[in-house]
Amino acid sequence: MADENGFCLWFTGLSGSGKSTITTHLVKELRKRGSKLEVLDGDVVRENLSKGLGFSKEDRDTNIRRIAFVANLLSRNGVPVITAAISPYREIRDEARQMMGDRFVEAYVKASVETCEQRDVKGLYAKARSGEIKEFTGVSDPYEPPEDPELVIETERQSAEESAHQILAYLEERDLIPAAVAAA
Ligand code: ADX
Repeated sequence: MADENGFCLWFTGLSGSGKSTITTHLVKELRKRGSKLEVLDGDVVRENLSKGLGFSKEDRDTNIRRIAFVANLLSRNGVPVITAAISPYREIRDEARQMMGDRFVEAYVKASVETCEQRDVKGLYAKARSGEIKEFTGVSDPYEPPEDPELVIETERQSAEESAHQILAYLEERDLIPAAVAAA
């Protein structure tokens, strides 16, 4: 494995598709392996680095560019980063890919609007349908799925834990993380 094995695992998917839940499982597993790691979660970034930004295309683009900027700084210095923001626009995700080159691993967290709406963990889909929230991704705002992502995570077909294992297997295969040490 290279000394500076920074990479950016870039999740993209609808609200409620499973990005944050899968991230939680991944963090647990990667920490067990002693890996350095930073997480840039959409909700957390919007409370801090992107506080004050809304959900217009312009604001979303700014949010995603900020996340990509930080992810690049970290990953180029050998710190693996997981980003978990909707990142609905292909063009901006591709900017992030250009910036990070081979370090960029795009993971499409795939679940239909119907499924996410049924889960409605935060109750936001109901508010989007009633018009209380405007420009809601998948309901009244666009989501552009990736055309050729490194990973497609089918969260309607597997648990968050299984999804995390799918991702870990891929990262191992790419030699981006050390293999799991078998239990003694
Ligand atoms: S992004 O489009 O800029 O990538 P980001 O992932 O940071 O979005 O934030 C999305 C989160 O903000 C959602 O999970 C949801 O909790 C909340 N949210 C509030 N309003 C909206 C909206 N109009 N569209 C999408 N998500 C929204």
